[in-house]
Amino acid sequence: MVFNCSKTSSQPSNIHILSLVFVLILFLLSLSAESLSFQITSFDANATNIVYEGDAVPFNGYIRLNRVDYVSRVGRATHIEHVRVWDPSTRLLTDFTTTFSFVIDTQGKSEGNYGHGIVFFLAPVDSEIPTNSYGGFLGQLNTTSLLSPSKNNILGVEFDSFSNMEWDPPGEHVGFIVNSLSSSQYMSWNATVHSLDVANAQVSYEGSTQKLGLLLTYKNSPLSYNVSLDVDLRTILPEWVKIGFSTATGINTEVHRVLSWDFSSNLEGKEQMDANNNTNKETNTELMRKNNGGNILLIVLAIALGVMGALDAILLVWASRVVWKIWKIKQKEKGTHPPAQNSLPRTSAPNLVHGNP
Ligand SMILES: *[C@@H]1O[C@H](CO)[C@@H](O)[C@H](O)[C@H]1NC(C)=O
Ligand SMILES: *[C@@H]1O[C@H](CO)[C@@H](O)[C@H](O)[C@H]1NC(C)=O
Ligand SMILES: *[C@@H]1O[C@H](CO)[C@@H](O)[C@H](O)[C@H]1NC(C)=O
Ligand SMILES: *[C@@H]1O[C@H](CO)[C@@H](O)[C@H](O)[C@H]1NC(C)=O
Ligand SMILES: *[C@@H]1O[C@H](CO)[C@@H](O)[C@H](O)[C@H]1NC(C)=O
Repeated sequence: MVFNCSKTSSQPSNIHILSLVFVLILFLLSLSAESLSFQITSFDANATNIVYEGDAVPFNGYIRLNRVDYVSRVGRATHIEHVRVWDPSTRLLTDFTTTFSFVIDTQGKSEGNYGHGIVFFLAPVDSEIPTNSYGGFLGQLNTTSLLSPSKNNILGVEFDSFSNMEWDPPGEHVGFIVNSLSSSQYMSWNATVHSLDVANAQVSYEGSTQKLGLLLTYKNSPLSYNVSLDVDLRTILPEWVKIGFSTATGINTEVHRVLSWDFSSNLEGKEQMDANNNTNKETNTELMRKNNGGNILLIVLAIALGVMGALDAILLVWASRVVWKIWKIKQKEKGTHPPAQNSLPRTSAPNLVHGNP
């Protein structure tokens, strides 16, 4: 900030008003709604943007979803911020696109001896790992919820490396799961072929056409998989959801890692907290949002006060110079000389401008 002393100090009240208007605009902006967008290229151990459940942990910059030194493990990792899927008042649906890269390591085992796969899912904000959801349940359902699909609120994209004959199509497959474990639309796939290769998945939903699409490609393979499903998310999911990944192993195990994750949606809105239904997680999320808003506000206030303070300081310097000059003139009139270096030196002006008001 460079100020011309004589100009700015002559109109401090205008600047004060401008600063206040500036603060007000930013305050209103901080209250306005936001859609969700993030880019994660590395999962840092100290980052608080991911909620880890079960076996899932950040490890060397990726998410290690489950361990393989024990059988029947489940892990989930979800983003701390929630996504607004649809607006109950306008019935508008969001668009969203997410891309993530992951690796499955079948550890040299032959088909039928590894499992069970990884799911990218959208679920109600209070969703947690269901009890007994290991193996083919993929950390999403269990024998209880399997029986009442209409009560579930789950939409997932599955990379299923083990065919459970109770509900799966024959063979390994990629596709969609909607409230149950039977794939709604799928393509055959082979985890052996892609073991340790970096998979790049893009999942997108277009609200206007209600089309959900999956495109799966690999870093070191020409094979690609393209599956799509017509689905009205309003019939499956609540207004707000959490998003993330789940994996499970049974007696068959394999390594599942998520390496990177981008997401963006465009339906705006503020999540309302149900006073009687606020679990700790929701409270934390809400608090975090409030804090973020508060921090922005504090920064804005600090800047504005800083600007006002700097202007006041300039005014002070200007005023003291005037006083000094008047005093000097008066001293001259009296015929005495002012002492050499006793009052405000010229160099103090920039210090005051940049220093604390
Ligand atoms: C996490 O925090 C600890 C302690 O503050 C620090 O020693 C470590 O280097 C941090 N790790 C990363 C990945 O930033
Ligand atoms: C399924 O999960 C729900 C939620 O965790 C739990 O209440 C229920 O007991 C579980 N059913 C079985 C058979 O474990
Ligand atoms: C999957 O790939 C492996 C290795 O190429 C092969 O042995 C196996 O038969 C394939 N499975 C299917 C169902 O095609
Ligand atoms: C995937 O398939 C859909 C329709 O089946 C098509 O419109 C789209 O272009 C395909 N995407 C790619 C990248 O092949
Ligand atoms: C809490 O939420 C559940 C399901 O979301 C709902 O059935 C229940 O009525 C709510 N309870 C209150 C007190 O709002």
